[in-house]
Amino acid sequence: MDKIVINGGKPLNGEVIISGAKNAVLPIMTACVIEPGKYTLNNVPDLRDTRTMGRLIEMIGGSVQFHNNSMQINTINCDKPVAPYELVKTMRASFYVLGPFMSRYNYAEVSLPGGCAWGPRPVDFHLKALEAMGATISLERGNLISKGELHGAEIDFEKVSVGATGNTLMAALKANGKTIINNAACEPDITDLVDFLSKLGGDIKGRDTTKLTIQGMPELNGGFEYDIIPDRIEAGTFLIGVALTGGEVTLRNVNPEHLGVVISKLKEVGTDIQSDDNSITIRSSKKINPVDMTTAAYPGFPTDLQAQWMALMCLASGDSTIIDDIYHDRFTHMAELSRFGANLHLVDNVASVKGIEKFYGAPVMSTDIRASASLILAALAADGKSEISRIYHIDRGYENIELKLQGLGADIKRTKA
Ligand code: EPZ
Repeated sequence: MDKIVINGGKPLNGEVIISGAKNAVLPIMTACVIEPGKYTLNNVPDLRDTRTMGRLIEMIGGSVQFHNNSMQINTINCDKPVAPYELVKTMRASFYVLGPFMSRYNYAEVSLPGGCAWGPRPVDFHLKALEAMGATISLERGNLISKGELHGAEIDFEKVSVGATGNTLMAALKANGKTIINNAACEPDITDLVDFLSKLGGDIKGRDTTKLTIQGMPELNGGFEYDIIPDRIEAGTFLIGVALTGGEVTLRNVNPEHLGVVISKLKEVGTDIQSDDNSITIRSSKKINPVDMTTAAYPGFPTDLQAQWMALMCLASGDSTIIDDIYHDRFTHMAELSRFGANLHLVDNVASVKGIEKFYGAPVMSTDIRASASLILAALAADGKSEISRIYHIDRGYENIELKLQGLGADIKRTKA
């Protein structure tokens, strides 16, 4: 297995192009199954997860060509609404085939996604929504069987769920009648899915809000070209990285509106940030004010930047607290950050961070996509050499991260472990 070796202490300077959004393209790839057709998706990040999703579409009978961040997906011959365990266990987002299978086949056989490095990842909201729409769902040895013709329903999510909102949207697109989703997720990834489904011919009202109304349409127009939005989590990761190492970096191909809270928090930290329609420039003198942070559903501070934010707060000029209200147990990165010298304590889902002078390079281990990112950022700021193992995690969510960081002056390379 590969590892990443970093000699830290260098500022980041220059320009970096942000890739397409992983969490937008994954449900849009499964949405191509709803209506047979030839689809072209542009600005698709080349990641382990997008390639895994491509393999899943091929397993159900589709064909996928992927070159230079453009993906051609032909779903005309899809005929097997089955998502097997060996794929679903590697990527929870495979569960996004449930809604499309039900829309096209009124049948789905999907392995239950396991938990992940930081704890359980239930899917009860997805199943309750489908049952409210008329699906009969049974569980046979870890495989979920869903069948039945769907009708519209009013769905009230007790908690905001990106995945459950996505699956319910895709299940409602051709259902008989009207579906209302209350307390819907309004992450940019969901708005991108709404835009794709509208282009498919879906009748969806409430874009960008927490209440979505879908009028089921028997006929849709499959087969078109679509551009994926930029990845706000990758962008936020780079912004936090510059705040940690110091320097001046311009991010291209970003939407600053998707990062409102993150940008205002980074200004509180002491960085200078200017942005226009599709770029953000951050300047940092390595002055890091302590700033408390609590994660929340969009437009709040994203849980997918919590680990990266913790790395930053470790080097703040005072103490701070970090609360993850989305995933109470998403703190596996704390043990690894402590190996750089971080002074961290966790009680329930509240992390207390005591600011320290500096990180010291150390060997550490990745545990999930965003924890890996926080370890890379800490290593970039650390004095001395760090080695990060199990970096297949980072390759799930970041395209060519070591090349992008090398382009900004970091001393980082990938080696065989
Ligand atoms: C999506 O996961 C993202 N993944 C995650 O990003 C992200 O952390 C998460 O949303 C929150 O923003 C993709 O989009 C592929 P949820 P998802 O359903 O949809 C609870 C990354 O690093 N819940 O919004 O699985 C759940 O336990 C990944 O890119 C239920 O209780 O998350 C959590 O506490 C990691 N029952 C909360 O809701 C359910 O049926 C939010 O989860 C579903 C969710």
